Order: sequence, then structure tokens, then C-alpha cells
Amino acid sequence: MTLRVAIGADHGGFPLKAELTPWLRENGYEVLDLGAETLIPTDDYPDYALAVAEAVASEKVPRGIIICGSGIGACIVANKVPGVRAGPCHDTYSAHQGVEHDDMNVLCLGARVVGGALAREVVEAFLKAEFINEERFQRRLQKVLDIESKNMPRKKGG
Ligand code: RB5
Repeated sequence: MTLRVAIGADHGGFPLKAELTPWLRENGYEVLDLGAETLIPTDDYPDYALAVAEAVASEKVPRGIIICGSGIGACIVANKVPGVRAGPCHDTYSAHQGVEHDDMNVLCLGARVVGGALAREVVEAFLKAEFINEERFQRRLQKVLDIESKNMPRKKGG
């Protein structure tokens, strides 16, 4: 179970971040809140997405949560940071399977897509999940890492 998590949101995600952050703390998680600290209607999601992604990539925290309006912009930004594997998840299956099979380390949420109750269940599924250390998942993850390092894999999976 992951107990340390970074969180960030632009104006589109701010209301959901304001709801999730105290709830995470009440449930024993150490939360690194990377903003926005207040609702700033003109702010830009890449700034918060990058801050969370860098906290995860630098191993300051093992997991991150980024919230924007849709979860999509946040995800696009986060996946540009080497070492980050982000996915937009609005259901609990994707949230835990993304970690178990794909070693997803950043969850992206759309505050205009999910309500607080479902978002809490999705976050819980994400944070409680662990990567399954089986050869097939390791092999696929290694291919992802090879692509990331520009060492494109050519062989088909066994
Ligand atoms: C902000 O209005 C909105 O465009 C942003 O939060 C996000 O949904 C982008 O993906």
C-alpha cells in the first residue's frame, strides 16, 4: 500500500483536489500538495501536471494524482516526463489494473467527469494496487522503458 502521494490540480480540478486532499490525510496518507493552493481561474494545467510528474520521476514520492477538467491534459503532460506512466482513470478496474499490469505511477482524474464519491474509490484502488512481478508484465514494462529511452524494441513478445 502506497502511503505517500503528490497531488496537483488546475482550476478545472481544484474543487476535487480540495475534497480529496483532506480525505487522503484523514486516511493516513502523507500528501505532498503541489498546488494550486487557491482557485485561480486563469491557471494552466501543465504547470501542476509537471510538478507532480517531476516529484514522481525524482522518486520524492512513489505515486502522483493530477486533476484537471477532463484528466486528459494532465495525462498528456505527465507522460512526457521520463519515468512517469500516467493514465486517466474514471473507473476502479483501470485504476488498479493500470498499476498491476503497467506499473502506472500517476493517476489522472477529470473533475468534470467524476464526482467525489467515485473519485475516492478510484484513488483508493490506485493507491492500494501494486505492480504484479510476473515475467509477462516485466517484459512489457521493459519494452515501454526501451521506447522511452529511444532504444525501440523490434522483437515480438513470447
Ligand atoms: C481547463 O478549463 C481545462 O481545459 C483543463 O482543466 C483540462 O480539462 C485539460 O485537459
